[in-house]
Amino acid sequence: MKEIDWSKLGFHYTEPEYIVRAGYHNGAWEEPYATKDKFLHLHVSATCLQYGQEAFEGLKAFRGVDGKIRIFRWRENAKRMAQSAKGLYMASVPEELFGKAIRLALKKNIKLLPPYGTGATLYFRPLLIGTTPRLGVGPGKDFEFIVIPSPIGPYYPGKFHCTTFIVNRHVDRAAPLGTGQFKVGGNYASSFRATEPAHAQGMDCLFLDARHHRYIDECSAANFIGIKENNGQIEYLTPRSTAILPSITNNSLMTLAKEKGFKVTRRRIRLEELEQMSEAAACGTACVISPIDKVFDPENNRIYPLTDNPGPILTELYHALKDIQYGRTEDRHGWCEVIEYENKKMKN
Ligand SMILES: Cc1ncc(COP(=O)(O)O)c(C=O)c1O
Repeated sequence: MKEIDWSKLGFHYTEPEYIVRAGYHNGAWEEPYATKDKFLHLHVSATCLQYGQEAFEGLKAFRGVDGKIRIFRWRENAKRMAQSAKGLYMASVPEELFGKAIRLALKKNIKLLPPYGTGATLYFRPLLIGTTPRLGVGPGKDFEFIVIPSPIGPYYPGKFHCTTFIVNRHVDRAAPLGTGQFKVGGNYASSFRATEPAHAQGMDCLFLDARHHRYIDECSAANFIGIKENNGQIEYLTPRSTAILPSITNNSLMTLAKEKGFKVTRRRIRLEELEQMSEAAACGTACVISPIDKVFDPENNRIYPLTDNPGPILTELYHALKDIQYGRTEDRHGWCEVIEYENKKMKN
């Protein structure tokens, strides 16, 4: 494998040396194994291809300030993937198998774990697909679990900056009682009609609830956070909706916000409430926090101005979470699985 110039690594896929796979047949999972083969021998009528029976995850491993490796909250990703599997009538990947596959993917690609200080990380994309050939509409009974690791560059190669969001009322990402709370490919494919035109205009998409188009749901691949300040009381607001993905980053930030004495509220949020917010952001594994400078509502030709630069509250939360991930501060919640790393070898 050729040497990687970490400083040139972008936020896109870099081919790993190994991926990890495990099949599910006759009601049982096989042991995960590493392979250099990145292609599947898949039946053309597999349920993942025919009916979108597919779910995925996204998580990261960090090389810490102390040289140790930290995998962030992988058990939460395993739980969420089990929920997605249940939602699409797939076999769930047992939590321990999920963890074993992630650790194996890390071990086999240890050279791809970016050094501390580069801002780059090793991202894992666990994927679960239905492989039974079927022509009649319905779920399959065979599955393949795959972990694809890829080193990715820092989300903010320059300085921590803001993005502009555009409100969308013409495309719904997910129905109120649909699959929005699951991390399944169909949600993303169906949002391209909104996200691609937004990206072409240099913006990101803010989806409203599909029933009323009145309340903020989430961003295309991130949850929404708003900050309100009232007589010195700081409030962290995030939408309650049946159609949004339960973000692990948002959950972590809510815990940290409470610890800092902020009021944390999860409820329906009307779009117009943006007017009362001092800061707002998208949050997720990729960016941690992506502050929003303004939200544009083309329907009413209205702009909700927020902050030109990342605001103080969201900046504080951003650093608090990153400090845990990089081992710069105590991990009081046990969010990271720490892996000892010595002489270029994983000890556990
Ligand atoms: C639709 C959607 N919402 C929210 C998130 C953020 O979730 P997490 O913080 O677990 O990465 C993601 C990314 O996974 C996403 O795709």
